[in-house]
Amino acid sequence: MQEIVDTLHKNNNVIKQKWPWWPLLPLYPYGVKRTFFKEVVPNQIWSFEQLQGLYYVAVPVRLTVVRSPQGLVLINPLPPTIELVQALKLLERKYGSVCTIILPTASGLEHKISMPAMARVFPKAQLWLCPGQWSFPFQLPLSWLGLPFHRTKIFYEDGLPHQDIFTWISLGPLNIGLGRFQEISCFHRKLKTLIVTDALIGIESEPPELFQFDPTPLLFHSREKGDEPLLDTPDNRRKGWSRLVLFSSFLKPGNLSIPSLADILKTAFKPGLRNLESHFGLYPFVWHKGWGDSAKKLIGDDKPLLQIAPVLERLVFPRAKNEFIRWLDELSGLSKIEQLVSAHYSSPIQFTNKDCIDLKKRLISGDWACSDGDWSFLGKVDRNLLKRGVVPENPLISSKD
Ligand SMILES: [Fe+2]
Repeated sequence: MQEIVDTLHKNNNVIKQKWPWWPLLPLYPYGVKRTFFKEVVPNQIWSFEQLQGLYYVAVPVRLTVVRSPQGLVLINPLPPTIELVQALKLLERKYGSVCTIILPTASGLEHKISMPAMARVFPKAQLWLCPGQWSFPFQLPLSWLGLPFHRTKIFYEDGLPHQDIFTWISLGPLNIGLGRFQEISCFHRKLKTLIVTDALIGIESEPPELFQFDPTPLLFHSREKGDEPLLDTPDNRRKGWSRLVLFSSFLKPGNLSIPSLADILKTAFKPGLRNLESHFGLYPFVWHKGWGDSAKKLIGDDKPLLQIAPVLERLVFPRAKNEFIRWLDELSGLSKIEQLVSAHYSSPIQFTNKDCIDLKKRLISGDWACSDGDWSFLGKVDRNLLKRGVVPENPLISSKD
């Protein structure tokens, strides 16, 4: 694995990190994407992470690679930059060719955007898609989206891939207005590893290792005002990370306000900050007392805190808690889960059948899809969508109808 670490971690070659298709989904860090590599289970499971976000609100997105008797299985493709492809070819040399590329989500744009490009890199691989793929504003055929018809299969309609090692479990489908939400998780029975996309996450207080390449997003958000310099200290990195977690969880956290343009300009364009890295001192956020307590509810102290992402709970499942509980029931019936790999935040994290049962109990007895405090912005978005008829009152029934 040292060769892969050298390829991705030690050599910073911008040419090899270019992603020309970034305008399709114009997210930070735009056209240049560095990749972080980790061996999850020696000689069996690996993960590759890249950053993705808006205005420095960036969190890692993960491609998981699993060794199977037929070859390598890629789950949740990432933009195949030259360096990522080189790393995958190194894995291929040792463990066999990429035989399957899996897109296990119907709605996760950040996961589906690079499926066609990854498919072109491995022209012999079979492609498996979660059913109900949709495009906006027009529903285009899969071949128009760059997925070759002759080697593309759909979960359940065409069977299930690699059942010799995996058990597949579907969450959804739900009607979310513009299209559908569905995620197909897989359980590697021998390695006792559950692989999910967005359904469950675990967040810890240390920023993801990927930020070692460039901590700028963390430092940018660790400040109180735009005229503060970006200071790289461990505390600032953690503080910035806590705020990134709040942003990506609630979009607009409760203890955050957006100042007037006049106030933003007062601290902008100061000497030392007239550069793109610090966005010329433009910093349109004011954090109020209490934001740290909000962050503590999402972030584990000494280990990742297992949770359902608030965006998922409040915007996708607000009226479908029972479907989430049904999914947890199905998971808890699997034979001995030991760890969880998800497509965002910390991975792998310790996760057992008991954690699954405990989470179900918490969901049954606790609040679901709140609209107070940090949840108020998400609540407002959902209520508006519901009022305008964009999302249905009962997503599960509408989808099956
Ligand atoms: Fe995602």
